[in-house]
Amino acid sequence: MKEYTRQQLALRNGQDKPEVWVSYKGLIYDVSASRLWKTGTHYEHWAGQDLTEELKDAPHTEKVFEKFQPIGRLI
Ligand code: HEM
Repeated sequence: MKEYTRQQLALRNGQDKPEVWVSYKGLIYDVSASRLWKTGTHYEHWAGQDLTEELKDAPHTEKVFEKFQPIGRLI
């Protein structure tokens, strides 16, 4: 699997580049296709970073990631 640094992930925040990427438990997901992540914001949360800890604040579980294939690993 391709590996990306935090700096590379940070560029995919939906603002600097068109891609919207989110990292969860070491894996990176491309959520660009999601209406819920448009422009990189999802409720109070920002894409382009590791959101593992923030999932605790969500009204849903990690099951939301099941429909997305991980595109890489965060190093
Ligand atoms: C206050 C915090 C949050 C709220 C209110 C929220 C709300 C929602 C809602 C209503 C949905 C769609 C329904 C569902 O699948 O349950 C959703 C989907 C999703 N959420 Fe969250 N969420 C929050 C935080 C987060 C965080 C921190 C992450 C990442 C770790 C995350 C990742 C996702 C993903 C990947 C989806 C699926 C998007 C799709 O299917 O298009 N959410 N969220």
